[in-house]
Parts: sequence; C-alpha cells; structure tokens
Amino acid sequence: MKSRSVPESFPAGTALLFGLLLMGTTASASALTDKQTLGKLLFFDTDLSSPDGQACGSCHDPSTAFSDPDKGLPVSGGVLPLRVGPRNAPTITYLATAPDFAPIAGGFIGGQFWDSRAANLFEQAKLPFLNTLEMHNPNRKLVVHDVEKGEYADLFRQVYGTNVFDNYEAAYNDIADAIAAFERSPELNKFNSKFDLFLQGEVDLTTQETEGLAIFNGKGQCFRCHVTTPNSDGDPPVFTSFRFANIGVPRNPDNPFYSLLLPLNPDGAGFVDDGLGGFLRDMGEPPEVYEPQLGRMNFPTVRNVAKTSPYMHNGVFPELKTVVHFFNTRDVLGSGFDPPETPTNVSTVIGNLGLTEEEENALVAFMETLTDDYEP
Ligand code: HEC
Ligand code: HEC
Repeated sequence: MKSRSVPESFPAGTALLFGLLLMGTTASASALTDKQTLGKLLFFDTDLSSPDGQACGSCHDPSTAFSDPDKGLPVSGGVLPLRVGPRNAPTITYLATAPDFAPIAGGFIGGQFWDSRAANLFEQAKLPFLNTLEMHNPNRKLVVHDVEKGEYADLFRQVYGTNVFDNYEAAYNDIADAIAAFERSPELNKFNSKFDLFLQGEVDLTTQETEGLAIFNGKGQCFRCHVTTPNSDGDPPVFTSFRFANIGVPRNPDNPFYSLLLPLNPDGAGFVDDGLGGFLRDMGEPPEVYEPQLGRMNFPTVRNVAKTSPYMHNGVFPELKTVVHFFNTRDVLGSGFDPPETPTNVSTVIGNLGLTEEEENALVAFMETLTDDYEP
C-alpha cells in the first residue's frame, strides 16, 4: 500500500499500553504492532465524529464480534439523532483475506461493504468519518485535527513520521492505513472457535454439530458460497469466497431508513437496495454490466454469526433459525416469506432444500461452533 521507514517494532509508551488494557478487549494488547495499536486507538476513539460520541467501535463492538451491538435496530444509527443508514452492520472479523474488488470470469470478487463499493479495508476506512448518516465530519481536515490534539498523537508521529500532521491529506490516508492494519491483526482474526479447535484435533463436535457440518457441506449447499476449505493463504476457512449472490432476501418493512426525510433518502419508501448492481450503475457501467449484478450482495462470513443478529443486509431476520428456514423453504408454497426485494438474478441453489426441522437445528448448532474465544 505504502512504505514508510519507521520500524513496526518501535516500543509503545507504557501509558498507552495501560490505556489499552483499560479498554477492556481481552486479547493481549502486546500482540499488536505499533501500527495496529494505533489503528485500535483510532478505531475506538469517540472524539473522531462530529459531534463527538461515535467511533468505528460504536457500530462494530467487540462484544458482538465487531458488529452493531444495538439489536433492537435492523440498521445502524449515526451520531446525529434520527439518522440511520440503509443497511445492517455485519461482523468485520475475518476480512483480512478479502481480495481487492476486481472483475473475474463470470462476475466480480472481493471488496468491502455489502455492495463492495470500497475496494479494500484501506479505502473503506476513509468513508465512515465523512458519512453524514454515520460519523458526520464535514471534511478530512477536521478528523486529522482531532487526532493531532488527541492523546495518541505522539504514537501517530512515531508510526508515520514527525511531520505527519503537516499534510492533512496524507495524514488522513495514514489514519485509514492504521485502522486497516488493526483490522488485519490477530484481534479480529483469532481462529480460536470450537470449530478451529476441532480442525486442530483438540476437541470433538457433538453429534448434532457434526450433522450440521455435514449438511452445511452437502444437502444445505451452504459451502458453495460460505466455503469451508482454506483460502490460498493456508489460514483455516473464513466461510466466504468473497463473491456475490442475490439470495432473494425480502424487503424489511421495519427498516427506519424508509422514513428518512429528503434529501437523505430521495426514494422514500420506494428505496430498493440494488447491491453490487446498484454500485456498478452508479459508477456509470452500462446495463449489460450492472443488470446481471442487481440485488447481489457480498457473501458474508458466517464466523461469529451467533453473535451478530439481526441478519442479512437489511436486518430483516432477527434469529439464526429464521435464516436457515429461509434458505430451506424460500421457494416452498406457503412458507410465508415475502418476495425478494430485487426479483432478478435470484439464486436457485437454495430455496427448497427439503431439510427437516431437526436438520435446520443441526445447521444452527454447527454455526454456533464458529464463535471466537471458545473455552473447552
Ligand atoms: C453508524 C454505524 C457505523 C460506524 C460509525 C462505522 N460503521 Fe462500519 N459498517 C456499518 C454498516 C451499517 C456497514 C454495512 C454498510 C454497507 O454495506 O453499505 C458497515 C460496514 C463496514 C465494513 C465492511 C464489512 C463487510 O463485510 O463488507 C468495514 C470493514 C467497516 N464497516 C469498518 C468500519 C470502520 C473502520 C469504521 C470507522 C472509521 C466504521 N466501520 C464505522 C456501520 C458503521
Ligand atoms: C448462493 C450463495 C449462498 C448460499 C448457497 C448460501 N448463502 Fe448464506 N448468504 C449468502 C449471501 C449473499 C448472504 C447475504 C444476503 C443479503 O443480505 O442480501 C448470505 C447470508 C447468510 C447469513 C446471514 C449473515 C449475516 O451476517 O447477516 C447466514 C447465517 C447464512 N447466509 C448462512 C447460510 C447457510 C446456513 C446456508 C446453507 C443452508 C447458506 N447460507 C447458503 C450467500 C449464500
């Protein structure tokens, strides 16, 4: 991304480390490099919004696997009252291996956000600060200024150079660079779930969890998108191949974004989330490029999914069991699910899987083994 001459191993001040311990995330702070430590401080700094009060960590809380801890809202509220975005905040664990957004044979791969409108973690981290429905800063200069007068300005200088604050454009990019480094750190990529210990031969899965894994990899078709084989880097599976599908998720009538006033939501109740296709259309791509992608969303990881309710891009399903029942019966007459929000490009790999109630429960039990920090 960018090369700077400052070594990653520069020792952090003791006061800083003490501050980190007080922040309450249990993983050992000492395992982080200085750049990652800086990224963590930026990530949890509630002074970087306008007005103060909201950090990245407010909507990506470690207690809910870095997803939005507000379970009562299907989407996320911004720092200003009554401002909400159109989408649900997913976990941001295990994104370290996501490739940059790129066209591939038959479609696209990688990127960040449900529609991958950010190419990678670095590009993504520049956006929430300036999003009027999120942290609501008027410009980059203000964000840099807040960092400069903050408690960890010295660490920022240590990592990016003594004159780093002289050029606020470069400094803003460095903020994003440090945050991305934290997101790639072991703290968000722990690989210590029950399933990981099972892969290492240290624990057994229960009969029900074993049945769930078999269904995930077979009759349920889940593995086709939430892949259970390791990526090319040799890490354990991250349960996504970073591609896109429209799985026919219905509109969520309870999404408060529909009632947001002009000009924040010009479409009002008529708002349709077109996913990847909408992003490509906004980029000026011709219909033959964007139409086949309408309604497609980035495959989310299902690691930590037991902690990240509600589910789907619009938070329409509050329970994991409902998600499984949806995959199983979407196309079954009388199943009661509303029609897809976007009726084109709907995947038919799932929708009528013929799973019994017991098999649905086994799938849920298996996914519950994917939560970090398992204690045997
Ligand atoms: C107001 C709540 C809120 C704040 C604050 C916020 N996010 Fe998010 N985040 C979301 C939502 C909602 C999404 C999904 C949005 C979308 O896909 O369009 C998201 C998506 C992401 C993703 C992509 C996840 C994926 O699976 O593609 C990353 C990475 C991320 N946020 C990191 C950050 C960082 C870094 C910050 C601070 C600079 C931040 N977020 C601040 C709500 C928030
Ligand atoms: C064709 C690809 C595909 C298949 C097959 C598939 N999924 Fe998904 N899955 C997705 C996509 C895409 C989403 C997000 C859709 C959206 O929000 O519009 C998703 C969402 C989910 C979510 C919600 C995650 C979150 O953070 O909100 C869970 C849980 C899940 N899938 C589990 C499963 C299970 C279990 C199976 C097998 C029964 C399965 N999936 C089969 C592509 C797939």
